[in-house]
Amino acid sequence: MAINWFPGHMAKARNQVQEKLKQVDVVLEIVDARTPEASRNPMMNQIVGQKPRIMVLNKQDLADPEITKEWVAYYKGLGYEAIAIDAQHAKRLNQIPQLAKKLMAAKIAKQKARGIKNPAIRAMCIGIPNVGKSTILNRLIKKNVAVTGNRPGVTKNQQWLKADESFFLLDTPGILWPKFEDELIGKKLALTGAIADSVYQEDIVGMYGLQFFRENYTENFRRAYGLNADDLALSDADLMVHLAKKNGFADNYNRMAERIIFDARQGKFGRYTLEKPEATDDTDTE
Ligand code: G4P
Repeated sequence: MAINWFPGHMAKARNQVQEKLKQVDVVLEIVDARTPEASRNPMMNQIVGQKPRIMVLNKQDLADPEITKEWVAYYKGLGYEAIAIDAQHAKRLNQIPQLAKKLMAAKIAKQKARGIKNPAIRAMCIGIPNVGKSTILNRLIKKNVAVTGNRPGVTKNQQWLKADESFFLLDTPGILWPKFEDELIGKKLALTGAIADSVYQEDIVGMYGLQFFRENYTENFRRAYGLNADDLALSDADLMVHLAKKNGFADNYNRMAERIIFDARQGKFGRYTLEKPEATDDTDTE
């Protein structure tokens, strides 16, 4: 989904999310497991406040499994619930309602004590575009379309969708902007396909990919492009020149850069994660 985030749009998005938040018990903050921090909204903590939160690291099928484990532990250490899932192939999604109920255990117990048999938990998905919010929503509700509008406290035209007897999701996800003011974050979002192709320079993003993969996933990168030890001893710029020639692009380095971006998104260099938790803290950056 392409959205132009002008300041007015950001304020509107924030207000819409905060309005909806009043109605939910639990927030599902959806991030891309390959870039858990770069794919977060920079004001998330301010916007969500103290509301119980589940960090959902989606697209884990594309991410480095070892680093994903570190991220899950990191977010749990901050006091959130956290889970890595693959919404596209419906992996581990069914644990989300369980985690939400665990977070809301005290409220559920109170309501049960008051005689409510199956206390309902209400949640909403929030995240930047392209992290998989709609996919998650659709998978969680399967084919259940539970219309529970027309109730006090429920905004008109808004529906709650039923994931199970006691777990409901708001029908539309909250969409917020990414942290694109930081250049490195912009490169990460571009490489993973989270931002539209028209808003970044492919030569810069392709070079970032070359540097990242040769350094962090050397063997996969070497194999993907049939490189030898001499090739890998070249500088980044010379390696780009070499790869362009080798792939038939002559001296059109932009085409090679585009190819690297394409290959990264297609998983040609294997599963990867662009950032680790040690360089991160949980404070808002806006
Ligand atoms: P959004 O609502 O947050 O904007 O994201 P959406 O669900 O539309 O998902 C964005 C893209 O990511 C979709 O691809 C979707 O299939 C894919 N996706 C969602 N969850 C997963 C996952 O767990 N693993 C993988 N590998 N992909 C996932 P799309 O619509 O086909 O777009 P594109 O592939 O053409 O970019």
